[in-house]
Amino acid sequence: LKVTSCIAKMFSKVRVQAVSFSVARTVRSFSQFKKVGVVGLGLMGHGVAQVTAAAGYQVLAIEAKPEALAVGMKRIEDSLSKVVARSVKTGKETPEGAKKTYDDIMGRITTSTNVADAADCDLIIEAIIEKEDIKIDFYKKLGPLIKPSCVFASNTSSLAITNMAVASGRADKFVGLHFFNPVQVMKLVEVIKTTHTNPETVKAVAEFGTKIGKSVVHCGDTPGFIVNRLLVPFLCQAMLMIDRGDATTADIDLSMQLGAGHPMGPLHLMDYIGIDTALSIVTGWRQNFPDEPAFVIPKCLSDKVAAGNLGRKTGKGFYNWDGDKVLDAIDGSSKK
Ligand code: 3HC
Repeated sequence: LKVTSCIAKMFSKVRVQAVSFSVARTVRSFSQFKKVGVVGLGLMGHGVAQVTAAAGYQVLAIEAKPEALAVGMKRIEDSLSKVVARSVKTGKETPEGAKKTYDDIMGRITTSTNVADAADCDLIIEAIIEKEDIKIDFYKKLGPLIKPSCVFASNTSSLAITNMAVASGRADKFVGLHFFNPVQVMKLVEVIKTTHTNPETVKAVAEFGTKIGKSVVHCGDTPGFIVNRLLVPFLCQAMLMIDRGDATTADIDLSMQLGAGHPMGPLHLMDYIGIDTALSIVTGWRQNFPDEPAFVIPKCLSDKVAAGNLGRKTGKGFYNWDGDKVLDAIDGSSKK
């Protein structure tokens, strides 16, 4: 309810008009997006805003409440400080050059708590809470407010793109644009088209993905797209091993790091992406695809969410955390 009312507030200063569904609307050439709106500055959205501004675009960063906006902008400042410090350390920039880079990038980001301010954006990337009813409501209200040529892109990790596209009233200009955490470091973006998406929209968004420095892959509107369809069942198998007591947390993680070359083990990654995020993904899949054997809900996954142990962001998940530093696993096993 709290989240719904926050999102309602983003629309508060405008009259919401009736939504019309129009795939027939003419699609102009999107040779160049100039102004990009990013709605939601959480774990993913702040990174999206940052890399978009770093690539030279004007960015309007939107959050529902001033406090959340401040937290999101602080995240961008912290991350960008790391990035420019690295460029000095590696000799790519002088300290003065790095300061200018920082100022230029931050100077391209403006902020708002009202989505109506995004009316003149060419592309809007949405990274709000992963709840289908909230996103559908968001798009129903967004569609009539924004200039008709603007493309909408949802960063959803697992929800059906088609439902949001139809709700927006501009299904021909709607794609999934799925980033990976941390957005500033991960090099991939998935572009998801539906049966309604105009090929020009896909082309323009793929060009945008390349311009912000990502490798672009394409996928149809299928649960989890490419990465999460493979990754999430793998994470669930690791959690089922915990449920069965097959091995310790630290040994499962070390095995996948050293035996399969993963940068971090699956349980460490669960803490990193947020245990509640994983539960919400598999819960949705279980409801919509009850016959798919790969979609399971391990007991330790539901238990941790019920206990409020959501991983790094709450200081406890499969591991204990000190801020961003991972400590021992909660089953007593130590990272080796
Ligand atoms: N902003 C800027 N720089 C960052 C950063 C951020 N948010 N996070 C990490 N970095 C930088 C660090 O500063 C460091 O830079 P340096 O080499 O100059 O010191 C560099 O990235 C490497 O970071 P660390 O030294 O802290 O640690 P690692 O070498 O272990 O790398 C990692 C961290 C990139 C997160 C790596 O462990 C990794 O790739 N892990 C797997 C991540 C993954 O699988 N993500 C996908 C999750 S699934 C998803 O997002 C989909 C969603 O729908 C659920």
